[in-house]
Amino acid sequence: MPGESSKAPAKLTATAAIPAYELPWVEKYRPVFLSDIVGNEETIERLKIIAKDGNMPHLIISGMPGIGKTTSVLCLARALLGPAYKEAVLELNASDERGIDVVRSRIKTFAQKKVTLPSGYQKIVILDEADSMTAGAQQALRRTMEIYSSTTRFAFACNQSNKIIEPLQSRCAILRYARLTDAQVVKRLMEIIAAEKVDYSEEGVAALVFSAEGDMRQAINNLQSTVAGFGFVSGDNVFKVVDSPHPIAVQAMIKACHQGKIDDALEKLDELWDKGYSAVDIISTMFRVTKTVDTLSEQSKLEFIKVGRLRPPSPPSPPRQPNNVPHGTLYGG
Ligand SMILES: Nc1ncnc2c1ncn2[C@@H]1O[C@H](COP(=O)(O)OP(=O)(O)OP(=O)(O)O)[C@@H](O)[C@H]1O
Ligand SMILES: [Mg+2]
Repeated sequence: MPGESSKAPAKLTATAAIPAYELPWVEKYRPVFLSDIVGNEETIERLKIIAKDGNMPHLIISGMPGIGKTTSVLCLARALLGPAYKEAVLELNASDERGIDVVRSRIKTFAQKKVTLPSGYQKIVILDEADSMTAGAQQALRRTMEIYSSTTRFAFACNQSNKIIEPLQSRCAILRYARLTDAQVVKRLMEIIAAEKVDYSEEGVAALVFSAEGDMRQAINNLQSTVAGFGFVSGDNVFKVVDSPHPIAVQAMIKACHQGKIDDALEKLDELWDKGYSAVDIISTMFRVTKTVDTLSEQSKLEFIKVGRLRPPSPPSPPRQPNNVPHGTLYGG
């Protein structure tokens, strides 16, 4: 009973009829259909086939934060169960009590509940952030999953699949999501930028992508924070919001160092230090920026990275300067 077509809607769909200003964009633009999910194409294709054919196996979706795991499970359940979603899906996440008692009572009661579905379709228990469930609670699921598997299937989403006990892993198909590529993050950001009519520069978008490191939630949150704080998405504004050293400044420092202009390099370093960035902030940005300096040979890049890794423990950081801009993690997700 696929409740919806898996075709991409022509425009981005807002998920709720609440006024736009009340919704964090991560929620407003959470994909509704599997085909709206960016990246991990092969895995999403598998989910689309499951959505079409029914008979969902028990599933574990694992991977980094903010790359679409929860979204995928929700889209799949919606595609499988359509109008029966409300009755036939039990959603539990880390904010719900999920100890052994809940597994024994709430999940079991749901598994026993009769819901009329077409043949080949089952009720779904979604256990989000399943890696935070205790081993005891996971153990208690083993029998339930087996006994009721003809009527109820389980979908786990987690960051680390190794935190799911082996017996549960062996009952599930495990899907691993990869971190999103920069191009995939840009694509989605540009859709949101167009839908929200955001003023932006290309460096601004590049800065969002650079600082998100493949985490779509963070990219979208930082976009919204930058718009809320400055009204314009430029590189400088984004790096103020995410509160990390500007890669251009770090790049200039590396280049000066490579050219033997040690005083210039130290001056740049002092500037960053005076802004209140810690040694860890600076070195981790150096680490990531080094590979983008095209004037460096591969050999020199490796040398810079090696020195960064061998550095002795850094002195305690100076206190951070107060920064009157909304922080990147202003919006939850
Ligand atoms: N692949 C994606 N395509 C489109 N939007 C995405 C994608 N991944 C994440 N997002 C956006 O980020 C938000 C958070 O995604 P989601 O809740 O699926 O992350 P997650 O992988 O479950 O992260 P966590 O491990 O922290 O639970 C979504 O509401 C959506 O706006
Ligand atoms: Mg999640």
